Amino acid sequence: MRNFVSAADVADIDSIVQSALAYKADPLKDRTLGANKRVGMLFLNPSMRTRLSTQIAAQNLGAEAIVFNVDKEGWALEFEEEAIMSGNTVEHVKDAAPIMGRYFDILCIRTFPSLKNKEDDYSELYINQFIKYSGIPVVSLESATLHPLQSLTDIVTIQEVWKEKRKPKIVLSWAPHVKALPQCVANSFSQWVNAWGKADFVITHPEDYELDTKFTKGATITHNQDEALKDADFVYVKNWSTYADYGKIYTNDPEWMLTNEKMKATNGAKVMHCLPVRRNVELSDEILDGPSSIVTQEASNRVWAAQAVLGDLLR
Ligand code: CP
Repeated sequence: MRNFVSAADVADIDSIVQSALAYKADPLKDRTLGANKRVGMLFLNPSMRTRLSTQIAAQNLGAEAIVFNVDKEGWALEFEEEAIMSGNTVEHVKDAAPIMGRYFDILCIRTFPSLKNKEDDYSELYINQFIKYSGIPVVSLESATLHPLQSLTDIVTIQEVWKEKRKPKIVLSWAPHVKALPQCVANSFSQWVNAWGKADFVITHPEDYELDTKFTKGATITHNQDEALKDADFVYVKNWSTYADYGKIYTNDPEWMLTNEKMKATNGAKVMHCLPVRRNVELSDEILDGPSSIVTQEASNRVWAAQAVLGDLLR
């Protein structure tokens, strides 16, 4: 694996899932793999789980993780080629990234979309410029369109929980939210579940909330949430803003929030969410605090997914 920014970077999803579970069973089994190596962690946007789990993962491998909050402490970066830098940006990524490539052995980056211009966001300019100019492996800590460390964690968690021989039915269910959120978690979850190929995958959302078919192709898509939930084994709850008419909120219908009543149609499904979650907007207290929720297990598995990725890149 050269970089980790998409499911397409992983040759064998089963193998990296098993690697994450092996690290969970024995976190320090490769404690010298990262000796004398440095992992740079650049944040252009906030984070709790991704930051802490990746730092712990690097530490478990014996590597040093250095966090740089570019958004608060760094020079404002320019990403456009041939930009005339007479505005607010101070340093071009073309100058900054090669320096980081000499300071670090792996470069991890979090960068959110603007949600203003679909073509710009979906070009993944920021992360691609770091790949182009740093000269070292780049790991996405969530980009404009994808969140691969989260999705790998999600597959690891499903694999860990699911003990039956048949394929699980996994439902990605849109939820209301007060803010316009990126599509990246939903895109990424869809991309990974489809690439994994070991589930019956259904996506349910209100009309006009269709995601990019590049990620959802292969899934069954329905606007009828009750129908989608029937016999589900896992329900992955997530809000996203509209993709076609980019970055808008068309509805906040609270009827889309998952409840114990709706869960009666499932096959005793486990409920997942990447977190942070708006309680009683996206997901009810009764679900989050009840036995069907596996969100804490899911978030704790972030360490092992990150360790599997960093471990692979350090070998
Ligand atoms: N799920 C997730 O990426 O959480 P953070 O934004 O806290 O890192």
